[in-house]
Amino acid sequence: MVVMIASLKAICITAAAALAVLLLILFVYRESRGFKVVRYSFVNGKLKVPHFRMALISDLHDCDLGNDNRDVLKALDEEAPDAVFLAGDMITSGLEPECHDSNALKFIERVAKKYTVYYGIGNHEEKLRRCPKDHPGEFERLCDRLDEIGAPMLLDEKVSIDEAGIDIYGLDLSHEYYRRLKTRQIPDDHLDNKLGSNDTSRVSVLIAHNPEHFEKFALWKPDFVLSGHVHGGIISLPLLGGVLSPQLKLFPRYDAGVFLKDGSTMILTRGLGTHTIPVRIFNKAEIVIADIYRDQKDFETEGMI
Ligand SMILES: [Fe+2]
Repeated sequence: MVVMIASLKAICITAAAALAVLLLILFVYRESRGFKVVRYSFVNGKLKVPHFRMALISDLHDCDLGNDNRDVLKALDEEAPDAVFLAGDMITSGLEPECHDSNALKFIERVAKKYTVYYGIGNHEEKLRRCPKDHPGEFERLCDRLDEIGAPMLLDEKVSIDEAGIDIYGLDLSHEYYRRLKTRQIPDDHLDNKLGSNDTSRVSVLIAHNPEHFEKFALWKPDFVLSGHVHGGIISLPLLGGVLSPQLKLFPRYDAGVFLKDGSTMILTRGLGTHTIPVRIFNKAEIVIADIYRDQKDFETEGMI
C-alpha cells in the first residue's frame, strides 16, 4: 500500500512537471510569434511638408512572420508610410539562400514595388562582404539584386527627399564596431569622415544598425537615428528592460524605444526576426511607424497618443 502511494505521488509530480514544461514551451512559442505595430510621433520644424510618415523595419533575419511575410506588408499598407527604412540584418549570413529567393529578398521586392525603400547595412550583410571565402560572391549578388529591386543599399551614401527637406544617410559600420565583449568605439569624427558634413538646416535621418554608438552618432547632429541590431535584448524584463545584446552585454543601455542625446533622437526597433537564439519573451517583434510633424499644432491634434 505504501509503495502504491509513493508510486502515485511520483507519477503526479512527473505529470505536473511535464505540464509545466509544456506550458512554458507554449508560452515561449506564443511570445516568439507574430509582430505588432509601434507608433511614435515627433515635431521637426525643418520639415518642408506638414507631415512625413516613416516605417522602420530591421533584423528580419530572413524569417517569415506569416503568409510569406505578406502579413507584414499588409500591416505596412494599413499604415501607408511615405517611405520604408530598413535598418540592416534583413538577411542572416550563413543561412541559405542568403541573397536569392530568400524570405528577405522576396519581402523587400514586394515592399519596393509599393514604397520607396532606404536600406542601411547591418553586420550580417557586412559579414558577406568581409568573408568572401565563406560567402563567395554573395555580397555582390545581394547588392545587385537590391539594385534590381529598387532598394539599393546605402553604403556611406546620402539620398535626399527634396520636397520634404529630408536627407537620408546610410552608415556602413565595419566589423570592429560590432565586436563582442570588446567593441571598439567609433572616433568622434567618424561620421564626418564617412558621410561628410551634415546640413543641419534640413531634416537628417541616419540609418545606423548598431545603437551602441549613439553618443558618437549624436556628435554629428542627426535629427533621427534609425537602429536595430539588439533585438530588444531577446528577453525584456519589467523595470530592467532587455537582458542580452548581440555583443553579449547584459542589460544593454540601448535595448528598444526612443532615446535622446544633444538634440538627436534615436528610434531603436526590437526588429522582426530572430537568429541563433530563436526566442523572444515579453519582447514582441515589431515594425515602427514614426510620424514627423512640421507644426506643433498638428502634432498635438494628430500625433499625441
Ligand atoms: Fe545586427
